Amino acid sequence: MTTLKVEKLKINYKTIEEFKRFKEYGIQELSMLEDLQENIIENDSESPFYGIYFGEKLVARMSLYRVDQRFDQYFDPPQDYLELWKLEVLADYQQKGFGRALVEYAKSYQLPIKTNPRVKSKEFWSAMGFTPVTYDMERDLGENPLVWYPNGVKEQIRD
Ligand code: COA
Repeated sequence: MTTLKVEKLKINYKTIEEFKRFKEYGIQELSMLEDLQENIIENDSESPFYGIYFGEKLVARMSLYRVDQRFDQYFDPPQDYLELWKLEVLADYQQKGFGRALVEYAKSYQLPIKTNPRVKSKEFWSAMGFTPVTYDMERDLGENPLVWYPNGVKEQIRD
């Protein structure tokens, strides 16, 4: 199997143009665009997005954010973990391993990962080794997070 190259995406007009092809284009992208236009951020500044190009075209992307140990309510022992969101593969490129390549890249940090899956992606996440947490109303507020534990990490049991 060929390995797909995961790249950290820079915030610039080209990246934002590419983002428009994704269904989950919303407030986060619009605010990046505004910040660029108003020179609040520089062209080519760092973004939380990672992606895979197929030729010149961005076909898969995700956002990764490192949450500090102090805020960890999910893992035992408490530690820094990655919040993964906006994982999406363009329709014509699904089921070809792009989603897996992005998730494997996230796992390569060897930190626990938390995500809030979209409906209809359950099989994918279980193929990736993600499991649901015990629902905690105060913490999860109606969401059903899925998590991935690296070796030696388990679920944080809350009283
Ligand atoms: N149903 C069942 N299994 C699925 C699946 C699905 N819809 N999508 C992926 N999988 C499984 C594959 O069998 C694969 O296992 P394998 O590597 O052992 O063959 C594994 O997950 C990895 O699949 P991959 O090719 O990397 O998935 P992807 O690149 O299509 O990425 C999503 C998965 C969910 C991120 C991507 O499809 C997406 O963004 N979809 C849009 C959201 C959506 O509508 N999803 C539902 C489609 S019906």
